[in-house]
Amino acid sequence: MSDVSSWDPQAVKDIIDSLRGMPGALLPILHAIQDSQGYIPKDSVPIIASALNQTSAEIHGVISFYHHFRTSKPGNHVIQLCRAEACQARGARELEKHAKSSLNLDYHGTTTDQEFTLEPVYCLGNCSNGPNIQINDEIFARVSNTKFDQLLEQKTTYIVELS
Ligand code: FES
Repeated sequence: MSDVSSWDPQAVKDIIDSLRGMPGALLPILHAIQDSQGYIPKDSVPIIASALNQTSAEIHGVISFYHHFRTSKPGNHVIQLCRAEACQARGARELEKHAKSSLNLDYHGTTTDQEFTLEPVYCLGNCSNGPNIQINDEIFARVSNTKFDQLLEQKTTYIVELS
C-alpha cells in the first residue's frame, strides 16, 4: 500500500535531482529526505535506487544499517535520549527506563496518538550537564524523571473546545 499521502514525492524528486551528481550521493540524499519529510518513505526507495543506478535492496541495506534513518512517520515531537557514556554516568539509564515506561514505548516507537517518538542518540555535545535529551531541535539538560514528565506534559497537544 502506498504511503504517499504523508509525504511529498515532488520534494523528494527535487532533492534527488539536486544531489545525485555528487560523489557518494546516497547518504546526503537520505539525510535530506529525512530532514524534509521526517522519515524515508518506503515508496521513495525505488525512486532513489533508479536515480543512483542501484537496487532497492541496496538502498534498504544502507537505510537499515544507520539507526539514524526512520522508515515510518515520526510523532509530532521526536525525543532523542542520550545513551553515551557521560550521560550514563549521570543517570541516563534510569531516565531511559522511566521514559520508556512513561511513553509505553521502546526506542524507535511512536505513541498511538502520534505525539512522541523515542530515539536513542550518542552524545548531544552537552556531556557535563547530563542526562540530556533533545526534543525536536531543543536540548534539555539535567533531566530527572520528574522533569521528563513535565516536558511531556508541556509538549502534549491538547485540543481546546471553544463554546
Ligand atoms: S554524553 Fe550525553 S551529551 Fe555527551
